[in-house]
Amino acid sequence: SKPLKIAVIPGDGIGTEVMPHGVRCLQAAAKAFQLDLEFEEFDFASCAYYRQHGDMLPADWKATLGRFDALYFGAVGMPDQVPDHVSLWGSLLKFRREFDQYVNLRPCRLMPGVPSPLAGRQPGDIDFWVVRENTEGEYSSIGGKIFEGTDRETVVQETVMTRTGVDRVLRYAFDLARSRPRRKLTSATKSNGISITMPYWDERVAEMAKAYPEVAVDKYHIDILTAHFVQRPGLFDVVVGSNLFGDILSDLGPACTGTIGIAPSANLNPAGAFPSLFEPVHGSAPDIFGRGVANPVGMIWAGQMMLEHFGYAEAAAAMLKAIENVLGRAEPEVITADMGGKGSTKSLGEAIEQEILKLAS
Ligand code: NAD
Ligand code: IPM
Ligand code: MN
Repeated sequence: SKPLKIAVIPGDGIGTEVMPHGVRCLQAAAKAFQLDLEFEEFDFASCAYYRQHGDMLPADWKATLGRFDALYFGAVGMPDQVPDHVSLWGSLLKFRREFDQYVNLRPCRLMPGVPSPLAGRQPGDIDFWVVRENTEGEYSSIGGKIFEGTDRETVVQETVMTRTGVDRVLRYAFDLARSRPRRKLTSATKSNGISITMPYWDERVAEMAKAYPEVAVDKYHIDILTAHFVQRPGLFDVVVGSNLFGDILSDLGPACTGTIGIAPSANLNPAGAFPSLFEPVHGSAPDIFGRGVANPVGMIWAGQMMLEHFGYAEAAAAMLKAIENVLGRAEPEVITADMGGKGSTKSLGEAIEQEILKLAS
């Protein structure tokens, strides 16, 4: 069979610390389950590359990366060196848009051994997916500044929702909801205040729901939805939201399950015309970079989502089980500080790698 070709892009900050463990865990899964994974590493899409070249990416990046099945991505951003909107619009957001990765799929799951800041919650109580629109919406490049430097200085940035763009992410979310036992879909809206785009979003949800009579649909305005994430997380099964709402919910959800350090993310081009991108939800965390204490689970779990996406079900199941087993043991010397431990990126990464090999033998 053909190898799965993976472009490895560590990026900045803790992206460079967690990436080696992500790759090693994937290599362990490949060894254990005889998968043919091919890795090639790139130094672009980092602020170091920007300082050398004046750009985040080489001119031929699209052809170079377009040859891969998957992009395995760490994190980008060093706001002291390069403004965030420059580094992110020059890399990650470009990948999402130019490779048409219109679904951003992010699990929120309370894992064994990971303390939740919500009182009294057990694994199983919080287990849902955030499906985030990933190519349009509030993240738009339409707008500008006028009357600069005067009292009339004005900035405008348009939210763009297209029927194609909204419908395709809704269809993905409804399909996902239909495939799960609870068959429940929650839509994030704000149609009381955002009076043009959000009523349109609601209208498309209602229209799509007609094609999925077996899926129970509800919607909440984003403000109360954030409150329900904290107070009634058991309500949710699949939560679909616009680009910005999905972004916010996918940090809040994992925070409710203990730490954003474990949360993974799949930026999918479902038809496979372009590579999909797999990354942790978290960023480059300059505040802890260089100490070797970053939680590598988000990066490793993103690799697990990659195997799942490409149909390596057995290897993917073993990787998830390995993560659960190691977290579940909650050994203080192994787990990282964000989960209450004294361990390091290395101790946790290597424990999961060993567990993958053990599960397969
Ligand atoms: P962040 O996710 O980098 O960090 C937020 C907080 O969570 C920090 O206190 C950090 O120490 C902690 N944290 C994050 N990941 C962790 C991990 N794996 N283990 C332990 N603790 C972890 O978000 P931020 O501080 O808003 O952003 C920092 C930089 O990263 C900015 O440049 C931002 O634009 C960028 N960013 C990039 C991505 C991405 O590349 N996908 C995502 C989010 C933020
Ligand atoms: C994420 C990040 C990005 C986003 C930033 C870094 C542009 O927060 O992947 O969630 O807003 O999409
Ligand atoms: Mn985010």
